[in-house]
Amino acid sequence: MNEDAEFVVENVKEHHRWFQSCLPMIASENLISPLAREMLITDFCDRYAEGHPGKRYYQGCIYVDRVELKCIELAKKLFRCSYADVRATSGTVANIGVFKALAKPGDRITALNTAEGAHISHAKFGGAGVRGLEVVNYPFDSKNMNIDVDETVKLINEIKPRIALFGQSVYLFPTPLKEIADAAHDAGSWVVYDGAHVLGLIAGGKFQDPLREGADVVTGSTHKTLPGPQGGIVLSDHKGETEEDKKFLKRLDSGIFPGVVSNHHLHHMAAKAVAFAEHIEYGKKYSEQIIRNAKALGQAMHELGFDVFCEHLGFTESHQIVVGVGEGKGRESAESLEKANIIVNMNMIPGDIKPMNPSGLRIGVQELTRIGMKEKEMKDVAGLFKNVLIDKAEPENVKKRVAELRRNFNNIHYCFKEGEAHKYYKIA
Ligand SMILES: Cc1ncc(COP(=O)(O)O)c(C=O)c1O
Repeated sequence: MNEDAEFVVENVKEHHRWFQSCLPMIASENLISPLAREMLITDFCDRYAEGHPGKRYYQGCIYVDRVELKCIELAKKLFRCSYADVRATSGTVANIGVFKALAKPGDRITALNTAEGAHISHAKFGGAGVRGLEVVNYPFDSKNMNIDVDETVKLINEIKPRIALFGQSVYLFPTPLKEIADAAHDAGSWVVYDGAHVLGLIAGGKFQDPLREGADVVTGSTHKTLPGPQGGIVLSDHKGETEEDKKFLKRLDSGIFPGVVSNHHLHHMAAKAVAFAEHIEYGKKYSEQIIRNAKALGQAMHELGFDVFCEHLGFTESHQIVVGVGEGKGRESAESLEKANIIVNMNMIPGDIKPMNPSGLRIGVQELTRIGMKEKEMKDVAGLFKNVLIDKAEPENVKKRVAELRRNFNNIHYCFKEGEAHKYYKIA
């Protein structure tokens, strides 16, 4: 090893040591299981397999094909649908692939504004713009942190977007999809639901069921509440029973390959398959505990004096809560928490216009739940937030209390017991 490589290895090791004494609460992250992690370091990470099982552009795919077919089968079972494409390398890639499949440059789509919860891939300055799409934003009800149904139906009738896109990055409550999807279809729109954040909760039957509520397509990331490897997925329950429907599925397929993916990161695909198998077994229990923990954290922080959004709705129905920390104070709050080893991200909240100087924190509990924390620990966590942000305690002192709390929570739950990777994380 030379100095440069040593530098990299040392910093990765340091990161590991640091994160094992932190409270990781970024709402878009999670821990994969030891067995899924093991798939990432197999020979699959060295290979190519463009196309579909049995119809590859490369030789050497006998076992890759078997794994990919299994991965697709497990995805269909997990999401109760007839079409699954597991090749997208991230949620953003899945979205751009679907935009390519269903819309042409210059077409209009509807989506939320990023200040009101949409992901950058839904915006003209992000993924939608890559496909040359015009984006019109839905009216948002910031009291209830959700789309305004009546105004949205009106907008869709007027705009007749090629794609009516739903799903959020700041995501507290299910989208009123059932109420809107018929209007969107009547307007000639495809209904696309980006479930990146809540995919694990959807699979666990605990958030909403977009494919049964009118979505033609669901996209998502496989590494947030669905605790798999970093990656993306495209799902649909269209069955290809008519010529037109067959064409629709073909467009979806070619939107991903050759649209936005060449080789599809076979090691991630193998890890996805393991994560899906685990989620089929444990997803319901895991999702239930995530939501209980998020509500408990919201309640405890509210009682300690924080401005937790949507008290009147029980704070959340997802893995996230949103806390207002004062105008433009999101960044300094997140930085103070980091000094005490509490890792969250600043976030824009309705009314914010400066992404680098927002007024909120988005806090996720899916990873703390994954390492076994329950409602009782959420009260302790709320107390640590108070120590930092309200009491302005010395970060070093809070850090010690964070490490103490973490000491009993270093095992990964809701997964199979096998896997060599527990050199890095133990399994309970
Ligand atoms: C709603 C939504 N869609 C898509 C993405 C993109 O996911 P990825 O990071 O896998 O590209 C995110 C990321 O957080 C998201 O919140």
